[in-house]
Amino acid sequence: MYVPTWPCLNPSYLFSSANGSHLPFPMNAYTRMCFFSARYGIYQLFRALRFQKDEIVLVPDYHHGNEVRAIRAAGASIRFYRIGRNLEPDLDHLEQLCRLHPRALYIIHYLGWPQPMGELTALCRKHGMLLIEDCALSLLSESNGQALGRFGDFAIYCLYKTLPVPNGGVLVQNRGILPELARLELLPCDGASVASRSLELTLEWLRSRSNGFGGALSWFKRAAGKVANQFGIHRLPVGNTGFDFAHVNIGAAPLSRRLLGQFDYQKIREQRRFNYRYLAERLAGKATLLRTDLAEGVCPLFLPLLVPDKHLAAEALWKCGIGAVEFWNESDPEVPAEQFPDSHFLRRHVLELPIHQDVSLSHLDYIAGQIDRLRPIFEVQSD
Ligand SMILES: Cc1ncc(COP(=O)(O)O)c(C=O)c1O
Repeated sequence: MYVPTWPCLNPSYLFSSANGSHLPFPMNAYTRMCFFSARYGIYQLFRALRFQKDEIVLVPDYHHGNEVRAIRAAGASIRFYRIGRNLEPDLDHLEQLCRLHPRALYIIHYLGWPQPMGELTALCRKHGMLLIEDCALSLLSESNGQALGRFGDFAIYCLYKTLPVPNGGVLVQNRGILPELARLELLPCDGASVASRSLELTLEWLRSRSNGFGGALSWFKRAAGKVANQFGIHRLPVGNTGFDFAHVNIGAAPLSRRLLGQFDYQKIREQRRFNYRYLAERLAGKATLLRTDLAEGVCPLFLPLLVPDKHLAAEALWKCGIGAVEFWNESDPEVPAEQFPDSHFLRRHVLELPIHQDVSLSHLDYIAGQIDRLRPIFEVQSD
């Protein structure tokens, strides 16, 4: 069996037209801008806000690294605040850091779970800070009936983590449009990058239904990719780690935009919530869930587990065809373990399991069965 890490592209989407259903936020936002990927939207936002070297942004110590690269590339200074083992900010630490008169608070809604927006918006009002919501992992999630990304001054989303599109990061401006962003002209993304990624997503769809056939085709696709590299046919990477100034002005593919009109977003949300609950129930007593709550409106990206050795557990699952994810192994040099113990704990122990809309009931039973079989690897240790 093969359980893909990310949602896959059913080829019928490539040939059908918009289903006419209502587009949710941020896809319907009047002020949205669609970049090749979210990190370039973050960069352009901080550039447009004209951050100077001595102007501080408060950023969570638990982060990917690409958002941090983008903020630094735009010239702003970062001070890190602590995230607890429950994935929420240490509000006392944030309050202390506000003495440095930061200009902005950058928050991340992790894996679909909302941050405490009442407290955070109040803190921003009290200290006159801009609020920027990073919803890269939380597209389609809500808090108290309001879409994540609507609370702050600005929000950034990553499309391809939740939806089967070849690329795309969306920036939304909730309090009027910055003139620098209004003037920005984005270049089209090249066809080879779009075709290559779309083919990969389609092969993943095939492979999740027939591992043998889809696996063989994926092998051919990889071989074709190597040949393309030898002929110098360059494709822009998606979902990689890094920041490339050459890509800061590239827009999302027109195909990504067209596909957005074809998804049934309500069904996607419901499927993810169902899969999360079903797998959580199947894993009860066999593994330790990082979060046991799933409030109304939360659209989970993955099911996060706490495991003793993340890499060992991930490898064991990959060997049986399960696309588990080891998010965020590397910490920033300005986040030493002694001062930021909880984010180091999360980096060492959190493993993500796929529960997206293309994960079927038999996939979920298979994941639960394999974790049961590999039980000692999943028995949690705390430190
Ligand atoms: C929290 C967070 N913010 C921003 C990004 C940047 O996303 P993208 O890969 O679309 O540039 C990522 C992933 O890289 C992320 O995990």
